Amino acid sequence: MSDKLRVGITGSDGNVGTTLRAGLSEDFDLRLYTLDTVDYESTLADLSDASQVEGIFDGLDCLIHLAAYIHATGTWEQILPNNIIATQNVLAEAVRAGVKKVVFASTNHTQHGFFMVGGKPNITDPETERLFKLNDVPHPDSIYGVSKLFGENLGRYYVTTSGIQFVVLKIGWTREDDDCTALDGTVHERHLRALYLSKRDCVQAFRKAVEVDTDYLVAYATSDNRQYGIFDLEESIEKLGFHPEDSSDR
Ligand SMILES: NC(=O)c1ccc[n+]([C@@H]2O[C@H](COP(=O)([O-])OP(=O)(O)OC[C@H]3O[C@@H](n4cnc5c(N)ncnc54)[C@H](O)[C@@H]3O)[C@@H](O)[C@H]2O)c1
Repeated sequence: MSDKLRVGITGSDGNVGTTLRAGLSEDFDLRLYTLDTVDYESTLADLSDASQVEGIFDGLDCLIHLAAYIHATGTWEQILPNNIIATQNVLAEAVRAGVKKVVFASTNHTQHGFFMVGGKPNITDPETERLFKLNDVPHPDSIYGVSKLFGENLGRYYVTTSGIQFVVLKIGWTREDDDCTALDGTVHERHLRALYLSKRDCVQAFRKAVEVDTDYLVAYATSDNRQYGIFDLEESIEKLGFHPEDSSDR
């Protein structure tokens, strides 16, 4: 039997999941979960259905929970099953199964609301420039952002009541093309350069989150975007040991 940590990944066929399957498979014994059939070995489950989640995390050391409805425009009807109910099903089952740690994919959208002007995101306006810190009060910009704060707090609750470890990564923006210049010349140029998370840094952030020994930790996961960055990485670097190697700087 392998002496590697057994790490599960929900939503393993998505954008982040594909990056992590490639980047973490040598170091960990990965167990993969998907909603639909894929061309690799995976356990199929709709995580919003508690009966489909029963028993699927038995034997895991750590679970990376990525599965979610991911669009900030998502309606309550889209977010409720996939982000709220599914996250409770996943955490309750992880606790029952004796999984030691859950790593939860949260988002920049838990704080983006600070940029809202007249009900619209205004991150491209230099006047709204600021550097967020992890302990700033939450300020979600969407039901999606609220659902991720629910997950962060649900994890905190289970840490208190069950002794499971829980690590939150507030992810910036990681893309299939891995290109921080992809939106240059558009209104989203500054937005992408502020939030950019390279695939290499994404893998490092999740690896550190799996390996760190702490009860509850919230960290940012962006590359080292000094020119346009909006998240203060100092605490994440210190507590997670995350040292991003890439940057959107020109
Ligand atoms: N990609 C980014 O830049 C980014 C930024 C911030 C946060 N995140 C978070 O990271 C995670 C992964 O994002 P992504 O970009 O890979 O998204 P994605 O849409 O590519 O993948 C999400 C996966 O979740 C699965 N899923 C959704 N509902 C499910 C359910 N009920 N049961 C089982 N599986 C279900 C989907 O099938 C899909 O495989 C998400 O939680 C997202 O909110 C991503």
